[in-house]
Amino acid sequence: MAETWWKQSVVYQIYPRSFKDSNGDGIGDLNGITEKLDYLKELGIDVIWLSPVYESPNDDNGYDISNYRGIMKEFGTMEDYDRMLAAAHERGIKIVMDLVVNHTSDEHPWFVESRKSKDNPYRDYYIWREGKEGNPPNNWESCFSGSAWKYDEETDMYFLHLFSKKQPDLNWDNPKVRDEVFDMMEWWCQKGIDGFRMDVISMISKVPGLPDGKLKESGYGDFGPFVQNGPHVHEYLQEMNRRVLSKHSLLTVGECSGVTIEEAKKYANSDGSELSMVFQFEHMDLDGGETFKWNDRKIDLVELKETLSKWQVELYGKAWNSLYWCNHDQPRILSRLGNPSKEYHDVSAKMLATCLHMMQGTPYIYQGEELGMTNVPFEKLEDFRDIESINAYRECVGKNLIAPDDMMRYLRYKSRDNARTPMQWDDTENAGFTAGTPWIMVNPNYTEINAKEQLAREDSVFHYYQKLIRLRKEYPIIVYGKYSLLLPQDRSLYVYKRELDGQTLLVICNFTDQEVPYEIPEELKGRDKKVLISNISGDYGKNDMDLKPYEAMVFLYE
Ligand code: NOJ
Repeated sequence: MAETWWKQSVVYQIYPRSFKDSNGDGIGDLNGITEKLDYLKELGIDVIWLSPVYESPNDDNGYDISNYRGIMKEFGTMEDYDRMLAAAHERGIKIVMDLVVNHTSDEHPWFVESRKSKDNPYRDYYIWREGKEGNPPNNWESCFSGSAWKYDEETDMYFLHLFSKKQPDLNWDNPKVRDEVFDMMEWWCQKGIDGFRMDVISMISKVPGLPDGKLKESGYGDFGPFVQNGPHVHEYLQEMNRRVLSKHSLLTVGECSGVTIEEAKKYANSDGSELSMVFQFEHMDLDGGETFKWNDRKIDLVELKETLSKWQVELYGKAWNSLYWCNHDQPRILSRLGNPSKEYHDVSAKMLATCLHMMQGTPYIYQGEELGMTNVPFEKLEDFRDIESINAYRECVGKNLIAPDDMMRYLRYKSRDNARTPMQWDDTENAGFTAGTPWIMVNPNYTEINAKEQLAREDSVFHYYQKLIRLRKEYPIIVYGKYSLLLPQDRSLYVYKRELDGQTLLVICNFTDQEVPYEIPEELKGRDKKVLISNISGDYGKNDMDLKPYEAMVFLYE
């Protein structure tokens, strides 16, 4: 398997709005990030993925961009950006930018022009259609509730928005759109950036005719099959690769909702013709249901193992995996798969980290995950800021699909805002995030869970992540070893092997709050082993063990 820098890297995602505020306006900013680069250096990560920092009216916190070559006022200036980029590079940290080009903001000059008239030169930059007898052109539901079409009086037509009404979809079939996007990407590459995380890139090519989708409980249709992995998506990404990506040494990761293994082998093919890797969603969707993600069902461990293992095995040697539990769209993993109680907080956070970081692929750490930050005890709808959560509440409760109390519980469990509360730096007011009023509440547990406390404590979750990152750099088997799952039907343990050049890595994780007996596989018994890491200090000399709640360990057999 070809070795590249991004296969050996660990990425840290920053959601700038919530990372560190340097000027007291309650909103994180670029100078705040620069201030904290030494913290990230100490953690040991190689790459930062920066969620969008571009000019934006913030309907979807920066994922609605009105100028791709300008910086959002609240975040600072282009000079601040350049300083941050240089300071990161000085420390050997690379910067990956978020590329949001399935849609723009409706305040982007292209759209402002486009909506003016049917013959405007920018008209075809977006997807405009006639209505059907006073109704939208088709039945698609937007990801943020309601119709995916907005009527525009100016020209008596509708435009498509798969996300919010303020995020009109670009028309990638128009070569001028592709030229504009590729020019803009090249402009950022010239600045010296190190890659792109591509927002919903699997949705840029729509099936012609935009047919109605299968009806959902909401009364709207599912656009999925007509939008995800559409007819020209690979052709457009190959063009992007030829014209921009191949000219630089970049890490590129496509956020690919609806991606299957077969599709991933094209997006992330090791021949380098499209992207470095994809984010797939199958493991995150395991607790979904009829009302989409709005429930409080738990992920089943057997299904989780089956799903993750399928990606590990089937992409091996053909395409590259990304590894993640968390990002700005997901609730905190500790509250989802771990145990945030005082007793098990640290040990279960470390177990989850072990399970993910010993797999094959490039690991992503989302800000605060390295501290074991948890979901947030939001009390009322007014505590939420996220457009998806607020719209979903109105839609599901308004249409009597879900009772108000249930919906609040689901939001508390699944809302994206769980990931978006301020980074917990220390135990001073507002967790040391801002001297002003934070734009969203701070998780009240910051007095216990914060970076300052964990930096000072040797056995903290932070130091455990630090060690996992270090191990990945020391042992090629962690990066390149071949994966196989053991005990697939076990409902408590996640055990797997990695193999490379005669070495074997054995990873054992107890996902429960119970003691669980475990016996080392026959073929490994009696072989010399090194304990690379464990989250509880125990006696690892025996072949039969009683694993403690959430215990995790990694053995290397040489
Ligand atoms: C995926 C992003 O991760 C999410 O935060 C955003 O709302 C949508 N794409 C739309 O850009």
